[in-house]
Amino acid sequence: MRRGLPQDAFEGGKPYIAIANTASDLTPCNAHLDEVATSVKQGIWEAGGVPLNLPVMSLGETNVRPTAMLWRNLAAMAIEEMLRANPIDGVVLLGGCDKTIPSLLMAAASVDLPAVVVPGGPMLTGHFRGAPLGCGTDVWRLSEEVRAGTLSREAFLRSESAMIRSKGHCNTMGTASTMACLAEALGMTIPGTAGTPAPDARLLERAHETGRLAVSLVAEDRTPSRVLTRASFLNAIVTLAAIGGSTNAVVHLLAIAGRLGVELILDDFDRVGSGVPLLVDLQPAGRHLMDDLFRAGGLLAVLKEVGDLLDPSAPTVTGEPLTAYLDAAEIWDETVIRRRSSPLLEDAGIAVLRGNLAPRGAVIKPAAASPELLRHRGRAVVFDSVEDLNARLDSPDLDVDETSVLILRGCGPRGYPGMPEVGNLPLPRRLLEKGVRDMVRVSDARMSGTAYGTVVLHAAPEAAVGGPLALVRTGDPIVLDVPARRLDIDLPQRELSLRTPVTTGFAEPARGWQRLYIDHVLQADQGADLDFLVGSSGHEVSRESH
Ligand code: FES
Repeated sequence: MRRGLPQDAFEGGKPYIAIANTASDLTPCNAHLDEVATSVKQGIWEAGGVPLNLPVMSLGETNVRPTAMLWRNLAAMAIEEMLRANPIDGVVLLGGCDKTIPSLLMAAASVDLPAVVVPGGPMLTGHFRGAPLGCGTDVWRLSEEVRAGTLSREAFLRSESAMIRSKGHCNTMGTASTMACLAEALGMTIPGTAGTPAPDARLLERAHETGRLAVSLVAEDRTPSRVLTRASFLNAIVTLAAIGGSTNAVVHLLAIAGRLGVELILDDFDRVGSGVPLLVDLQPAGRHLMDDLFRAGGLLAVLKEVGDLLDPSAPTVTGEPLTAYLDAAEIWDETVIRRRSSPLLEDAGIAVLRGNLAPRGAVIKPAAASPELLRHRGRAVVFDSVEDLNARLDSPDLDVDETSVLILRGCGPRGYPGMPEVGNLPLPRRLLEKGVRDMVRVSDARMSGTAYGTVVLHAAPEAAVGGPLALVRTGDPIVLDVPARRLDIDLPQRELSLRTPVTTGFAEPARGWQRLYIDHVLQADQGADLDFLVGSSGHEVSRESH
């Protein structure tokens, strides 16, 4: 292992600190993490440890198909095994793009070696025709303008170049930004790190400090199981609501908690998150971008406003509780971070719906929905797959109007392996041309954290395992009542029980990871982890071999 290091680098009981590094040219959001790793290394050396770069599986939303989520659990498993197999004492986790921080945290939780996260940070705000553009959110909006014929394809491509103007991950409050903030809310970063823009020199300062901290984490044996308590997860749920974060956080937090044996259920998101005000005016729920959040005071300034809702017993990697960092935080721009007294929305938590269409639950993010559609009754227009949707959505024969409820099935964890982000299904072109910009949509799929709309997601059980979505027929009356937390087909149960479920989903793969995945994936309400990866195996192997 020496490779140019003097022998005494490995003497005197110096801790070996791995840097689990998801840098990859195929994950553009994480491509700069090698530079971040260099700063982490300097901090580790300075504090008396030995840094060891550990390239790990990386998942980029822009390139990996059909969906990076298909490999989140594989990445978590591979990282877990490498952390366990190698002679290391602690780990610094470098992530950015959506699935990378969740998979790193799931792995670290299962190995339970001292661990700390450095989120790679969002990219800088880009402008097009004088207006700021949000990654993802404005892509959805502008692509609908192209479909509606109000924006040319050339102008659309120019907007893309303007949007992606620096290193870093998506600059909206999408899944990457959300999971970075939640890593901090969970206590797994040095407080004040999340949201530091990727090109900002202060990210490298934090990375250096995190390297130093990793050495002391080992000395104090401060492992994820000591930091990630139920109180930490409940603080993360409060944070998720206050920042208007991605619905994908629901499956990720459930999966991370599952690795630790922390009791966390879908209803906790509604029970704890409901009543928490939305304080961050960021796309997709609002106007601004991550760069603005950082200059306005950052996540800690947001959390200070809801400090009374946070559990002060929840620790962080520094040994201090998260709430100990809030006094020093300040809001510098109240148009970006609202005061508790003037929130963007009073109740911002993710709502958990139940009913005969989703007996094990479905989720909706009211902050990203149209208020007038949160109570809605409409006729179902059912699509059996993404292919069916693409084939028929713009057909002149499709019997649809703006009051219809668009239903997409066959896209849950097992039905379309990986549970793709297709839940915000596009609207029929002829309705777009009429000016319609939102409709109620229901699916067993996920939705990009950068997307918006009155979109009910994660319906469980999914259609592919016989959930009631498989029973719906076009024309059925669907009732969405978010205030009452209901999602129903308004038909007598005896009529539904006479129906044969429609078989949906892909042809089952014969071998390889996808076979393993569909045989073992859990439903969305359990975090869509694999059943045999739930829990922890500890880190005895690496300690013994050291
Ligand atoms: Fe990586 Fe959006 S594509 S965070």
